[in-house]
Amino acid sequence: MPRPIQATIHTEALRHNLARMRASAPDAKVWGVVKANAYGHGVERVFDGLRGADGFALLDLQEAERVRALGWRGPILLLEGVFEARDLELCSRLNLWHTVHCDEQIDMLAMHKTHAPQRVFLKMNSGMNRLGFSPQRFRAAWTRLDALPQVDEISLMTHFSDADGPRGIARQIAVFDEITRDLPGERTLANSAASLRFGQDAVVRADWIRPGIAVYGSAPDYPEHDIAHWDLQPTMTLATRVIGVQQLAPGDTVGYGSSFSADAPLRIGVVACGYADGYPRHCTTGTPVLVEGVRTRIVGRVSMDMITVDLTPVPEAGFGAQVTMWGRAGNGAILSIDEVARAAGTVSYELMCALAQRVPVVVD
Ligand SMILES: Cc1ncc(COP(=O)(O)O)c(C=O)c1O
Repeated sequence: MPRPIQATIHTEALRHNLARMRASAPDAKVWGVVKANAYGHGVERVFDGLRGADGFALLDLQEAERVRALGWRGPILLLEGVFEARDLELCSRLNLWHTVHCDEQIDMLAMHKTHAPQRVFLKMNSGMNRLGFSPQRFRAAWTRLDALPQVDEISLMTHFSDADGPRGIARQIAVFDEITRDLPGERTLANSAASLRFGQDAVVRADWIRPGIAVYGSAPDYPEHDIAHWDLQPTMTLATRVIGVQQLAPGDTVGYGSSFSADAPLRIGVVACGYADGYPRHCTTGTPVLVEGVRTRIVGRVSMDMITVDLTPVPEAGFGAQVTMWGRAGNGAILSIDEVARAAGTVSYELMCALAQRVPVVVD
């Protein structure tokens, strides 16, 4: 009998969230962002739920090969473009579109021998200061690409640093728009937060949106808004069971470092999940958890393989009781991964990506 922990990927929820993102940006085409192994969900596991996307955006050539191996013939975009010259051969062979964000990538293209010109997405650094040509150098890069026989269509791209927060996107939009206004080609600007918050604006939604985290059932601007507000559904449930019960007397402590001390009699469930499963060790007493679909809290420190939870709201729960660390419980109750991430001082992206290898995953 394996440990009772299991992650479930919800295909219907992926479909729902993709449709929700489509609705947020009418007329735009949608990249399903499946980088980082589909945000920890597994490229193969999400494929069925996301096959309604217009294309898949990712980083890794191996991930692109996996998407093609699933039978996908539509667009695939490499969000960071190629890392070395020979990657361009694979782009030709797999028909991949790729981002061009620096001169070195244009140099590689210029040297590339190909019969089939490639489609590229020229990326502007409009303020994020990660990848991309500065606004001052963007048009020179476009002119250089346009002159290359290796290049077919040139699309235009940028990425927002603050679509989820008070700084917003207006400054970056203004920079991008000013430099690109009279250039031909499709445009892609918006991630999840920009699509949900500003997708009604035709300039923001442009020709393609690139939602990642919202498709995976997390609110990109949590805690300002939650998944109920955005009508998103959890796509990953991390579920386990109670494997032991302790009765604490007042003054008894729980776990390493005795960080929690009971001030009244307390029933504690010991749960088969720990940081070695990807549950964040930074979660402290009070982090929400569902037992038999009823909301309660973890108490004491998260250890490698176990977590202790307060059973007060579920007196009938004992050995074998169902525990939902995040996602959807058997009774339909939902604990958003955003809440757990916040309790750990991080974001849902990190928790999804950190799901440990040892956790068995099923798809429903
Ligand atoms: C270039 C690019 N586009 C789109 C996305 C998707 O962003 P999100 O998951 O916030 O929707 C990312 C993710 O970081 C990205 O790097």
